Amino acid sequence: MDSSLNPDRRHAHLAAQSAIDASEKDFACGAIDEATRLDRVTDALASAYLIKDDPRWGSGFDGDAELWRQARELVVDAVARDGTFLDVGCPNGHLMECVAVWAAERGYRLVVYGLEHSTALARTARRRVPAWSDQIFEGDVRFFQSPRRFDYVRTGLEYVPAGQRAWLIERLLRDVVSPDGRLIVGPTSGGDFEEAKAKFETAGCPDPAISSVTDRLGKTHHVLWVERASVA
Ligand SMILES: C[S@@+](CC[C@H](N)C(=O)[O-])C[C@H]1O[C@@H](n2cnc3c(N)ncnc32)[C@H](O)[C@@H]1O
Repeated sequence: MDSSLNPDRRHAHLAAQSAIDASEKDFACGAIDEATRLDRVTDALASAYLIKDDPRWGSGFDGDAELWRQARELVVDAVARDGTFLDVGCPNGHLMECVAVWAAERGYRLVVYGLEHSTALARTARRRVPAWSDQIFEGDVRFFQSPRRFDYVRTGLEYVPAGQRAWLIERLLRDVVSPDGRLIVGPTSGGDFEEAKAKFETAGCPDPAISSVTDRLGKTHHVLWVERASVA
């Protein structure tokens, strides 16, 4: 979640960050297991995202429509043909909606799906985009038994503990991406981008394609992607 100058959002952001920090601390010292950590983190995110009926805030982004587009549109740089697209961690479905529109502007038709761990957020996404309610799944990406494969799968690596991030890349490529599909990671920035490159290398994908965009505030966003067919 980005920081905010709006008092309500600032308060929600600080409350969520403090709950997340406490969960990470309890997980690091072995007081809770990964499932409990994830429940606590995604409950904290849902509490913050659901304070306002704002599509971008409800997706964990604090900024106007132009900044959102500058920070997120690069996801569709990885799209090179029509196909199916899974957004892992899809909170309120707004990125799903935007990806379909932005791809269409480039001449590609995407059938978009989402996966979300938080029940409250998955419900919100189904309510906001009822036409896609059957395309919004609920669960932890680590154990997601996908009913189908997707031509494009987008994820964040931060959804799993650091020690499982390279494994997540391998698992999604093996179990969820179609044989001629692509796994997309990001948008990410700064140290998280450097870490993502290292995790791709550990996962046996040393040379992912990378697209980068600097927004009007000077922040640079990156997405990385690999073709399943290119991975041994
Ligand atoms: C930062 S948000 C939104 C990402 C969004 N698609 C975007 O970039 O605009 C991340 C979402 O991932 C969900 N999430 C976190 N860990 C997850 C996991 N292990 N499995 C599924 N969803 C997860 C959270 O509940 C949250 O809604």
